[in-house]
Parts: sequence; structure tokens; C-alpha cells
Amino acid sequence: MTTRILTGITTTGTPHLGNYAGAIRPAIVASRAADADSFYFLADYHALIKCDEPARIQRSRLEIAATWLALGLDTNKATFYRQSDIPEITELCWLLTCVAGKGLLNRAHAYKASVDKNVEQGEDPDAGITMGLFSYPVLMAADILLFNAHKVPVGRDQIQHVEMARDIAQRFNHLFGNGKELFTLPEAVIEEDVATLPGLDGRKMSKSYDNTIPLFGSAKQLKEAVARVVTDSRLPGEPKDPDSAHLFTLYQAFAAPTQQADFRAELVAGMAWGEAKQRLCQLLEAELGEARERYHALIARPADLEDILMAGAAKARKIATPFLGELREAVGLRSFRSQTANATGEKKKAGKSARFVSFREDDGSFRFRLLDAAGEQLLLSAPFADGKAAGQVCKRLQAGDALEVREQGVSFGIWLDGECVASSPEFADTAARDAAIVRLREALAPQE
Ligand code: TRP
Repeated sequence: MTTRILTGITTTGTPHLGNYAGAIRPAIVASRAADADSFYFLADYHALIKCDEPARIQRSRLEIAATWLALGLDTNKATFYRQSDIPEITELCWLLTCVAGKGLLNRAHAYKASVDKNVEQGEDPDAGITMGLFSYPVLMAADILLFNAHKVPVGRDQIQHVEMARDIAQRFNHLFGNGKELFTLPEAVIEEDVATLPGLDGRKMSKSYDNTIPLFGSAKQLKEAVARVVTDSRLPGEPKDPDSAHLFTLYQAFAAPTQQADFRAELVAGMAWGEAKQRLCQLLEAELGEARERYHALIARPADLEDILMAGAAKARKIATPFLGELREAVGLRSFRSQTANATGEKKKAGKSARFVSFREDDGSFRFRLLDAAGEQLLLSAPFADGKAAGQVCKRLQAGDALEVREQGVSFGIWLDGECVASSPEFADTAARDAAIVRLREALAPQE
């Protein structure tokens, strides 16, 4: 069995070395496994929640697409697309919005953090909070559930969102699945042994700390960034402690074990920081030099990138379109053409709840009663000499044979082939009798 792996990349920035080591590189490696069926996409709808600068959104989409392709993502094997090219995602998002509890979303960390900040600053709790931010986890659930992903590799800050997707999926399955699991329940995957890179200042490399090393900057930019990596003040020739040097951590993330051991030994033996930085640059150049060329070639041909992504969208929609059709059916958004076919196998409610009860009289004859949903008697049959005859009449009534109802005072009788086969009890008045006839017709109506 293949494992469907799905993850989204929010398109608000330019990928840096930390993104590469922590997310992109492991994702591309994982996509190559024989049993992997990977869905990687640009979460550009999510980007709109955080960013209202069209030029930045557009630039980031282009750069992230080019980055993944330059680093060797094979789009013949993996499915690579932009969220905004899959209209089924927003459509599913609405279906999920209709079952997602508001209380569940109130608990989302990102939303709560914004509210807390407002309150702290004495603002209205909802100041500056959009419905996009509030519904962020529902859109993410739609991303995941539309493709029935098993595994969702994410950072720690996203675990809660994947759990919410599970919750929403369970609720939807319960409400509309009719015993079937419409949605696979996804699982968050945190890659434990993936490198979390320190940035220039030793804190986690992150755009928000402005301490990143660009992934595909020029060789010169790379050199300049590495020159800014903070080190201690030990002089050349003085032994260095590799384990407290984040320069070493950076080196480790890209070096083979033997290279790591050599680098460590040389630091301990007193290699100058300047020399160590040069070695890191060489290492990064070896890891990324070719990919950088591919990256710039791709960026220079945006129309080709567009074609690649549209092909990815077509591939994704081959799955999404029929599945969304199934989901629309499940919630009751069905074509009127299929009305008579009773395609879902659902029983009409009245048919389900009204019931025939057969019994035998003391004199040995066979009879049946028809009870309505509330258990009240609608009909008592005439006595039949054998069970088979009683059963046949029963069947003909259930089959929805046109009912001949004859009123007799405050009761009524049912006639088949010129014979009265069953009678109602006496009702209080003709209005009650007529109401019972309506219930009878509902109970015996042909099932769609
Ligand atoms: N919210 C994720 C992030 O900021 C990006 C994302 C959007 C995502 N949709 C997703 C991740 C679906 C995994 C699955 O990192």
C-alpha cells in the first residue's frame, strides 16, 4: 500500500537555508521512496491570510515553485500544485465549515494568540482579526482531507491544525458517511532528526529574526552571510569547542560523517574561525551550486513554471473532482436526475419508521397490522386463511401499489382487486381520519 504524504508551503517569503534543511530537503527525499505518493503544494490561499501585498505573494509563489523544482522534486512522481488552482479545495472548505465547531476553532493557537495580544494591549479582542485567520484551520483541513492524506509532515506549530483536521473529518464521517469512512484521518508527522538550523546569531534560523542565510543567493551573498555567523573570540591556533559553536552545527547539517569528524578535529586543533567559515562556504557551494543554476534558469522562464504547475493541478484534480462529487452527494447536494434512482440506498424516513406486524388469531387465521412511526395503528388487515396470502397483500401494499382508500364514516378501508383487505380503527372525527390517511400514504409511498 502506498502512503499519501501531503504538505503545504505558505507563499509569503523566499526560502532560506533553514527551510531547506528543515523541510524541503527531507520532503524531497521522502517523495522518492517507492511507496510514497506525495502531494506538495503552494498554500497561496493561506498566504493571503497573512499578507496583503500582491507583488510579494506573486514573487514568493514563483520563488518557492522554482526552489522545489531546482532541488530535484520529480513532478512525474510527486503531485506539485498551487492550492489556488484547485477550486475543489475552497468548495470543500465550505462543506467543512458547516460542520466545524466554532468552539473548536476558538481554541486554535494562532487565533488565540492574536486575541490575547489585543486584550493585553487594551484593544477590542477581535481587533484586526479576519475570518481568514479564524478559519485558517478549516482551509487547512480541506487541503488535507480532499486528498485523503495519511501523513502530514509539519512543524510543531502546525500539529494542532492537523488534529483539528482529524476532528472535523471524524465529525463529517459520522454525519454523512452512512457507516463509510468518507475521509481518511490524517496524522501529523514531525521529523525528529531533521536539522533545525541555527541562524547567524545562534537563534533558530527564521525570517522573523532576520538571521537567515539565503538559499539561492549569489556565491558572494552566501559568503557575506556566512561571514556574519557569530563565533566566540578565540584566536587562530586556540582550540575551539565545536559543540558550542553554531558554525559547527551549520556545517554538520550538510556534511558527510567523515567530513564532520575532520572538521571537528580541526576546530579542536585550533583552526581559525575565518578558515572554518571558508570551509562552510565551500561545503554549501558543493551542496547547492548546481541547484542554484537550475533555480535561476527556472525563474527566468515563468511561463514554463506555469505549465508545470498547471499540469500538477490537472493531476490533483483528477482525484479531487470525482471525490468532491461524492461528498456533495453525501451531504445532499444531488442532481435531480438521480432522484428516482435512490442512488444512495437511503430509506425514506417514513418508510423506515412505519412498520408491519403480522400475527395469528386464535382461530388460526393470519392478520397483520400497520403501525405508524409513533406506533399507532393505521390498519388492521382482514383475516387470511394462510400466512402466504397475508404476506402477499402486505408486500403489495409495501411495493406502493396504487392505494384504493375508501372512507367509511370516521374510519377507512383499503381495497385491492375489489376486496377490502384492511381497515383502520375508528378515529375521533373525519379530520383525524384524513390525517391518518396522509400518514398511511407517506408510510406506503414508493421509495423515491
Ligand atoms: N499552515 C501550514 C504552515 O504554515 C501550511 C499549510 C497549509 C499546510 N495547508 C497545509 C501544511 C496542509 C500541511 C498540510 O506551515
